[in-house]
Amino acid sequence: MKIKLIEKNISDIDSEVTIEFLSKDELSEHKEAEILNNAGFKAKQDTTCFLYEKGIIFCGVDSKKSDDIRSAAAAMINIVKASNYKSAKVSALSKSTLTALVEGLVLGAYEFNEYKSEPKKAALKEIFIASDELEFSALKTIFKEALIVANATCFTRDIVNRAPQEVNPQTLCSLAQKLARENSLECEILQEDDLKKQKMNAMLAVGRASIHGSALIHLSYKPSNPKKVISLVGKGLTYDSGGLSLKPATSMVTMKMDKAGACAVLGVIKAVSELKLDIEVHVFIGAVENMVGGDAYKPDDVLVSRSKTTIEVRNTDAEGRLVLADVLDYAQDAVNADYIFDFATLTGACMVALGQYTTGLMGHSHKLKHDISRTSSDAGELIGSLPFNKHLEKLLKSEIADISNTSSKPYGGAITAGLFLDRFIRKENKKKWMHFDIAGSAYTETPWDCNVYGATGAGVRLMCGYLKNL
Ligand code: BES
Ligand code: ZN
Ligand code: ZN
Repeated sequence: MKIKLIEKNISDIDSEVTIEFLSKDELSEHKEAEILNNAGFKAKQDTTCFLYEKGIIFCGVDSKKSDDIRSAAAAMINIVKASNYKSAKVSALSKSTLTALVEGLVLGAYEFNEYKSEPKKAALKEIFIASDELEFSALKTIFKEALIVANATCFTRDIVNRAPQEVNPQTLCSLAQKLARENSLECEILQEDDLKKQKMNAMLAVGRASIHGSALIHLSYKPSNPKKVISLVGKGLTYDSGGLSLKPATSMVTMKMDKAGACAVLGVIKAVSELKLDIEVHVFIGAVENMVGGDAYKPDDVLVSRSKTTIEVRNTDAEGRLVLADVLDYAQDAVNADYIFDFATLTGACMVALGQYTTGLMGHSHKLKHDISRTSSDAGELIGSLPFNKHLEKLLKSEIADISNTSSKPYGGAITAGLFLDRFIRKENKKKWMHFDIAGSAYTETPWDCNVYGATGAGVRLMCGYLKNL
């Protein structure tokens, strides 16, 4: 399906169907009001009404604001895809909602069919967007940028959705190298021997029982006069079985998505390089598989991390923080960044705290939290701030090492995981760092908003929006 912005009046575009967004207030005034009323259409958000003879599909919205347009566009595009129409047209309602419209169409229509032997083929080939009132040149830039970010989100989804027997830490390396070639990025990969030289023993312990070598991937985008330098760190657990603290069978299903943080930061650097932003971006990925075996790391092990902080392992399923501890430490040596953001499917507790739809945001800078939260509402991603406190920090105390990898109490698990990472952020970087727990928001088994079954690409739209506004 191709989506095109056309420099014509809507009525002059030749297409089989016209899409119209309609709010309750507009319903009674509409020239098709009677038919719509007879059809029982109440213009409720995300409901659709197809007038086949007239070739119009109506889509209900609570308002003409971005969030409602995005969600309605996603609901509607699936109805059009189920029909046999080959082309559709829709009006760009306003400059401020064009991005949401593009996102709703692209992300709502997304399908992952790589493993279907006979994928359903939609007849819909083209969607045209146009406006009778708005200037084409102004829409053009917004459209182009929205498409770059939406496509990068699909790129992220595609990697997360791939099966774990196919995407292992070494596959992630190849994908990063391919992206580097295509988008002219620099790419450096540290394989296990290099990680040993770097004394990244926490990360190495997690991957030891895997047949696939662990790796640290460093990608960089370096424009000539960058306004800011950003480090993005991603948790790349290509599978999280839990290790010897094995996950129960039902919790293990979907754990291919434990690489979503890594895939999100790959999506961000792809978009940033295509948007040609004046910002230097470094991506650091800890690519590891957490498995069981005679060589597996164990509860009771004490690991000496890269930063020399010793860690008592009390649960091998709290592995993401061990990988990130070493990668964050490495990233702080490699680049003197203005901001350090990490993305990780870190804790089930984050979903308990905020629900499945919301990313947990943790860090020390109120200003940064505020700025990121503001961007999130424009980008259409949900964010909730989880506050650190010194009482929770004490729960990470270990009797035999500097810190334990689990909390001694069962509450506040998302925050104690964030506080664990905080131990590896140097004093001078405290206010520059933010941790994004995307455990809930990165993957869904029931569609919501513009998200369909599987990976959502959480973090990509949010970070692109933030970096664009810097
Ligand atoms: N990858 C999981 C977190 C997770 C859970 C992500 C569910 C997405 C959905 C992480 O490695 C993990 O297992 N965390 C443990 C930590 C606990 C052992 C302290 C958890 O959340 O149960
Ligand atoms: Zn785990
Ligand atoms: Zn994990």
